[in-house]
Order: sequence, then C-alpha cells, then structure tokens
Amino acid sequence: MSEMGRLDGKVVVVTGASKGIGKAIAFAFAAAGAKVVLAARTRGTLEQVTAELRESGAEALAVPTDVTNVHAVKQLIQRTLDVYQHVDILINNAGIGHFGPVVDFDPDDWDAVLNSNLKAVYLCAKYALPPMLEQGSGQIINVLSIAAKVAFQASSAYCAAKAGALALTKVLASEVRQQNIRITAVLPGSVHTPFWDDVPEHPDFEQMLTPEHVAGTIVSVCQQPSGMVTEEIVVMPPLGIL
Ligand SMILES: NC(=O)c1ccc[n+]([C@@H]2O[C@H](COP(=O)([O-])OP(=O)(O)OC[C@H]3O[C@@H](n4cnc5c(N)ncnc54)[C@H](OP(=O)(O)O)[C@@H]3O)[C@@H](O)[C@H]2O)c1
Repeated sequence: MSEMGRLDGKVVVVTGASKGIGKAIAFAFAAAGAKVVLAARTRGTLEQVTAELRESGAEALAVPTDVTNVHAVKQLIQRTLDVYQHVDILINNAGIGHFGPVVDFDPDDWDAVLNSNLKAVYLCAKYALPPMLEQGSGQIINVLSIAAKVAFQASSAYCAAKAGALALTKVLASEVRQQNIRITAVLPGSVHTPFWDDVPEHPDFEQMLTPEHVAGTIVSVCQQPSGMVTEEIVVMPPLGIL
C-alpha cells in the first residue's frame, strides 16, 4: 500500500466487529495502520478477535457493547476517548436480521431489527459526533444493505430499518458536512457471513460477496483525499441480486 493510502494513527470504532463484515473491516483498517476499537455484545468472541489483531501487530481495543443501549454506546465512545484521546472514524456495521411474512412476524423481532439496524446508527452517531466536531474532522460510514432500496419478501423489518437508516444517513450528512464530517452509506448485496446461519432459504454462498470485498471498499473510502466525499456506494456480487 502506498503511504498516501495509509491511515496511521487514525482511531476507528467498528460496531459488530466480532464476526462477518465487521471483523473483516477491523482487520482491513488495522492493515492500513489504524487503531481499531471493536464493539459487539459477546465478550468472548470480541476479545478473541481483538487478541488476533494484536498478535498481528495492530493497536486494538475490545469494548463489549450493545449498540441498541444508550448507556453502552456512551461508554463505548468514552472508553475510546480515554484510551486513544480521539475518534476519527465510526463504522456503524452492527445489525441483525429476522425474516418472515408480516402476518406471522413477531413484534419483538420487529423491535430487535429496528433497534440494531436503525436506532443504533442514530445512537452511535450522536455520541461519536461531539469529539469529531470538536477536532474539526471525522468520518462516519453506515453499513446498510441493498434492502434499503429493494423490497424483498419476508423482510419487512429489515427493509424498513435499512431504508430508514439510509434516510438517517442523508440527514446526518446535511447536518454536519459544513463541519468537515464526511458521511457515507454503503449498500452491499449478499455477503457470505454468519448472518445467514439461521436463514433456511439463503442464496448460494459461492455467489456471494466476501466480507473482505466490503471491508476493502470501506477502507478505500476512508483513504480518499479530503476534497471529496463518497456519499453512497452499492457493492454487489457480479451476478447482481442473488
Ligand atoms: N451478510 C449479508 O449478506 C449482508 C448484506 C448486506 C448488508 N449486511 C449488513 O452488514 C452488517 C454486518 O452483517 P454481517 O453479515 O457481518 O452479520 P454477522 O456475521 O451476523 O455479524 C453481526 C455482528 O454484529 C454484532 N451485533 C449484532 N447486534 C448487535 C448489537 N445490538 N450490539 C452490538 N453488536 C451487535 C454481532 O456480534 P454480537 O452478536 O456478539 O453482538 C456481530 O459482531 C449488518 O448491518 C447487515 O445488515 C449484511
């Protein structure tokens, strides 16, 4: 990687960093020289991934966090500031899926999907923005889905949450672009991750994107020169929607 593309010393908070796309994002930022703060609910897996990163020579910090919980999110940002003094980049990646037709869909599942894919994006941005605004720069990348734009059967909560998060991303950009904060929505098609473990009828894993495809795209957005902003990226498997 050229020196220009390096992110040495940048502090990057990655939510949902213990598995799948988030784990690949954490490794990709570490490879570019960033200090990575990893957040997810399950302490064991989070600490295991963080240990792997450190063994590879990276600066990494695990902060077990439920991103749907306001107190936990506040604590995530505070701990980041205590350890690394600033927050340069926030990657809102954590999210879950529950699927089924509206008529059968459990209201608790609806809340869980909306909270992790939509409310959490608001909460993490709310608490990461003040230190970014204070330092006069920052970047937030929201990992959404092509489901933000395409209606998939049996995906009401997921599509609604991702579409809402796309609207939220645009509002955020309009609120903070004057303050040198860059906001990006990334909309992947199917990615081969543990996300699909509990989904009986899933597309062909062989045809899906890899987590590294999405992670590489996100790191390259953060390596762009300061005179530009990439507001929205759709990343699809070569065969399109699977
Ligand atoms: N896989 C796909 O095909 C695909 C396609 C487009 C977009 N996406 C989006 O990409 C993102 C990552 O998906 P993935 O496929 O990598 O999923 P995954 O393999 O299931 O990983 C999800 C990660 O999010 C964490 N997480 C879930 N709920 C959380 C919460 N409330 N607080 C903190 N962390 C939480 C999980 O850890 P814990 O369970 O330990 O908290 C895990 O680290 C999601 O937003 C998803 O909607 C996925």
